[in-house]
Order: sequence, then C-alpha cells, then structure tokens
Amino acid sequence: MLEGFIRRVRDINLRASRYMRTVMPDDNLAVRTRLAVMGGCPVEELIITRNTTESLDTVIGGFHWNAGDEAVMAQQDYGAMLDMFGLQAKRHGIVNRVVSLPMDPRSDDEIVRLYESAITPKTRLLMICHMVNITGQLLPVAKVAAMAHGHGVQVMVDGAHTFGQLEFAIPDLGADYFASSLHKWLGGPLGSGILWVRRDHIPELWPTFAELGIPDTDIRRLNHTGTQPVHTILAINDALDFHESIGIARKEARLRWLQRYWTDKVRVHPRIHLNTPSDPARTGAIANVGIRGLAPAALGDALFDRYKIWTVAIDGAGVRGVRVTPHLFTSTAELDALVVALKEIAA
Ligand SMILES: Cc1ncc(COP(=O)(O)O)c(C=O)c1O
Repeated sequence: MLEGFIRRVRDINLRASRYMRTVMPDDNLAVRTRLAVMGGCPVEELIITRNTTESLDTVIGGFHWNAGDEAVMAQQDYGAMLDMFGLQAKRHGIVNRVVSLPMDPRSDDEIVRLYESAITPKTRLLMICHMVNITGQLLPVAKVAAMAHGHGVQVMVDGAHTFGQLEFAIPDLGADYFASSLHKWLGGPLGSGILWVRRDHIPELWPTFAELGIPDTDIRRLNHTGTQPVHTILAINDALDFHESIGIARKEARLRWLQRYWTDKVRVHPRIHLNTPSDPARTGAIANVGIRGLAPAALGDALFDRYKIWTVAIDGAGVRGVRVTPHLFTSTAELDALVVALKEIAA
C-alpha cells in the first residue's frame, strides 16, 4: 500500500496539470465506483472525503436548522461530532439531547427505547455510532433507524470503525447518512473517507463550499474542496486490492476472533474489568480494559513504558480503561504478551 502510494505521488507530480484536467475525473469516478460496490450502494450516493469528521460535519453543518430544532446523540459519540452539534446550538439555537449508552444492554430494544426517550416533536436528526470507538460496542443501528423514522427523524450513522471491518451493505442500515474513514479498517492512505447520502436528501443539504454549476441532485455538489491530493484518492485502489484479496467475511472473522482471544483470558480476573460488551454479537475488534484502582493514563503508561504495548487511555463518558485495537496483522504472541502485562500490572 505504502509503495503504491509513493509511486502514485511521483506519477501525479510528473503528469501534473494535464492529468488533473483530463484523466483525473474518470479516475476519481472509478475509485468512487469501487467503494460504492464495497458499500453496496449506488455510486451516485457516495463521495470520497478526507475522513469521517469531514463527512459527518458536512451533514450536521449542511442541515437546514431552525431555532428550537432538536438533535439526539450519545455521550459516547466521537467528540468532534458532539462539538459540531454544539456549534449548531450556538449558531442556530438548536437543542442537543444526549443519551448515555449502557455497556451491557439486555436487548436491542433497550437501546432503541433509550434513543426514543430523547425524541420529541421537535427532533430532526439522530446521530448514532455503528461501533462506539471508546468501548468497541456495536449498536443496533437498523432498529434505531426504523424507530426514528417512525417519528419522522432522520438518522446519521458514524461508521468510522465498521467500513472495512464488518460485512454489511450501507443501505441495509436503513439510515439517511453514513460516513467512514478509509485510513482505519480499510488500511487506506491517511486522509481518505466516504460520505453516503440517501438520494432524496442530496438536494436538501447546504454544501460547505459552493459549486453552483452542479445540479442539486448530484452528490458532487457536497464535495467541492478545491484541488485534491489525488495520489491519496488513487491509493485507495491499492487498499481495496488488498482488502478484496482477503474478503470482508474472513477479515471480520479474524478481527472478532483476535478480540475474544485476549479478552476471554482476562474477563474473570478479580482486578481487571472490561469496558466492552460481553455478548460477542455486540463487539468487533476493539475492546477496552481497565484495572481497578489504577487511572487509565497510568495503565497506558505502564503498558508502553514496561512492555512497549501501545494503547489509548480513555477516561470519560463513564469509561475508565485503555482501548486495545488489534488489526489483521496482530499475532497471538503479541496478545499473549498483553495478557501477561495486564496480569502483572494488576498484581
Ligand atoms: C467513532 C469515531 N467517529 C469519528 C472519528 C473521526 O475520524 P477521523 O479523524 O478519521 O475523521 C473517529 C476517530 O477515531 C471515531 O472513532
């Protein structure tokens, strides 16, 4: 992937302006088309962005908000999007209603009712994570979307951690908007992402940057960000080649297996606690672990300083622990080392 990226940087810089004005639009469409095939959606509903933040903020900032309109989200959502909704509150006077997700719900219905409890006649948009990044919890997005639509509320899915990790078709989530970053689970170049907008909503959003020559029904009107690092877009092809050579079903199976491999070994330890659902159906590759009486930052430091294991300390939204994120290349020997480290620190 990296070699492909570097080769494309050289190539694009050599071909320069002529490439940009002649070949680039077709190349861009070809990458979009491959991503749309992967997402199981029409290419007319998908654009390439820089990341999930740009994609979701395009929707949040492009919504026709009126003072008093309401939005629903969760405390465990990603901070950048919560901030973007906060900005709309300052700018347009919208009201944000924030629920807090239970770690081990008894059923999908418990999650659906939780989101429903925050909906009022003024609610216009509901944001939901497909997978919560701080805990690895998978949410029943399709059921929440069906409930929200029953109240006339549009649904925007933060799929930063699921596109390329789990097998699903974007339209099957039943939502109105979906976004992901390709530099996470697809292994794409840094600064590549997607935004999917259900066809009938494309004319409804205000673009962040104007390009008035494009028809309101064309999703590319939401995508005018000036001259792009096209080598980044082209290198998505290399990531897709690798991804397709493995296949999403095998990738998902391995990533789920890696998580259970190490979490099962510490689950019953008296001083170690998992901040990740125990039901395998509610998780994927990501899990979060804490040690009783030890601050997450101290645990993260101990893992890195003493064992050279890199994790991310999470201390907020009811979650106290470090996030552990294996990828396809993570070995069982490395996970065994993590388990030993956790047990030694806990002792
Ligand atoms: C759930 C979730 N949403 C959004 C983002 C933002 O992703 P990006 O920085 O690629 O825009 C992240 C990043 O980790 C995330 O975990």
